[in-house]
Amino acid sequence: MDIKIKKGCIEKQDVDGIILGMFEKEKWKSKSAITRLDNLLGGLIKDMVKSGEFKGKINEVVTLPTRGDIPARRVILVGLGKKNEFKLDSIRQVSGKSTNEARRIGLKRVAVLLTGDGIKGFSVNSMSRAYAEGALLSIYKFDRYKTEKDDTQDGIKELWLIDEYGRGLEEAKDGVKVGRIIAESANFARDLANQPANELPPVKLADAARRLARECGLASMIFDERKLKKLKMNALLGVAQGSDEPPRFIILEYNKGEKKKGTVVLAGKAITFDSGGISLKPSEKMEEMKYDKSGGSAIIGVMRAVALLRLPLHVIGLIPATENLPGGSALKPGDVLKSFSGKTIEIISTDAEGRLILADALSYADRFKPDAIIDIATLTGACVIALGHNATGILGNDEGLLALFKEAGERSGERVWELPLWKEYDEQIKSDIADVKNVGGRPAGTITGAAFLKKFLPDLAGGRKTPWAHLDIAGTAWKEKEGPYLSKGATGVGVRLLVQFLMDYADKG
Ligand code: BES
Ligand code: ZN
Ligand code: ZN
Repeated sequence: MDIKIKKGCIEKQDVDGIILGMFEKEKWKSKSAITRLDNLLGGLIKDMVKSGEFKGKINEVVTLPTRGDIPARRVILVGLGKKNEFKLDSIRQVSGKSTNEARRIGLKRVAVLLTGDGIKGFSVNSMSRAYAEGALLSIYKFDRYKTEKDDTQDGIKELWLIDEYGRGLEEAKDGVKVGRIIAESANFARDLANQPANELPPVKLADAARRLARECGLASMIFDERKLKKLKMNALLGVAQGSDEPPRFIILEYNKGEKKKGTVVLAGKAITFDSGGISLKPSEKMEEMKYDKSGGSAIIGVMRAVALLRLPLHVIGLIPATENLPGGSALKPGDVLKSFSGKTIEIISTDAEGRLILADALSYADRFKPDAIIDIATLTGACVIALGHNATGILGNDEGLLALFKEAGERSGERVWELPLWKEYDEQIKSDIADVKNVGGRPAGTITGAAFLKKFLPDLAGGRKTPWAHLDIAGTAWKEKEGPYLSKGATGVGVRLLVQFLMDYADKG
């Protein structure tokens, strides 16, 4: 789908369909686009509003025929909701909703009024970016295993964003460019996370990462089992030993060797399938555990975006990848591992495997002497219980980083909610026989997961730890229901959030 920016009046556009947003109880100005359009259509829109068939509620969609009154064959009215509740993510939502409707009814070229006399308070850049994101995220489909493709798949060929007075053409162009990079990177991550475990085991995930690196100019390095043994990445190897699929440790690096720029390490959990291991999970919904690679998939997507956006930072992606299966050599509850950091871990549950592989990744981050470390993982079912599906859990050791993430969450539409990480929680993961144990009991499961990870952060001078934030995406990485701009399945969560965070982090200098 091509997205173009044009100056002009929306009602005159030579396209198949026009998309027009309307607030609830909106008062029309006499010269505004909606009034002009309504006049041309002989009062059809006013009729719809009067009869209550269209109220302007957020994401409400009604399609009207134009029967030759204007060049476009259809007008899609889309509700923008209450004016005082309108936020940047509303743009993504109405964009996704109306793009889907246009596709459903087979429109090939559509125009939408981006800036006229309507929406105030957002820059043209952020609006066009959000609109592009919503549209491109909404047309994503995971249908590679369907031998009969849906025929609406060809979809919209051109989407025109109309800037009525032409005051923001350049800004809009830039917004669309950025929005496209971000949305396509999120879709890339969704594609990885959606892949079944037989199709995308760790070796293939590493291949995909390497291919991407080559395509967008990232440095890459992949550690195989031999290298992992040499390095003594025993926590990652411990999880891997229950499966016949060999593990990989994937490293992607952007702006390698650029010493002057801030260095950020991003680590993502990539369990290509989580059966729980010997602490076997119940079989119900176990098939969904292919998305336990969502954290690692997001990091690969983020690295793509970072490279294409040319962000002025030194960014490293670390992706430990393995299956978690209960094979004959599998890790057992009670086993003790000596991690890459040298710290010993008593295994209580083999199902708390994400923190094991991330422990090695976090300690390995020390090699890059990062200014900040961020990790992202489908780490705990407890996070789904605590926050449901509308917020990613965030915990960390640095107020500044957490504040940046909260802001980036609002802007990107991938919101985060903080849980406390007080030292009192460390009590729960004390082991009788090792330095730490991998489970802290039922209470505060998300927090004790993060408390475990914290132990593996690199030490800085003066006993301080590297500034760090942990994102638990167990509740946000997968959608069971269709949303306004995200379909069922993997959401690519973390890509939009982390890219926005990195943009802001770079800006802050
Ligand atoms: N991958 C799971 C967490 C998960 C659960 C993600 C549901 C998405 C949806 C993780 O490896 C896990 O099994 N965690 C355990 C930890 C427990 C044993 C401390 C959990 O949440 O039950
Ligand atoms: Zn698990
Ligand atoms: Zn897991």
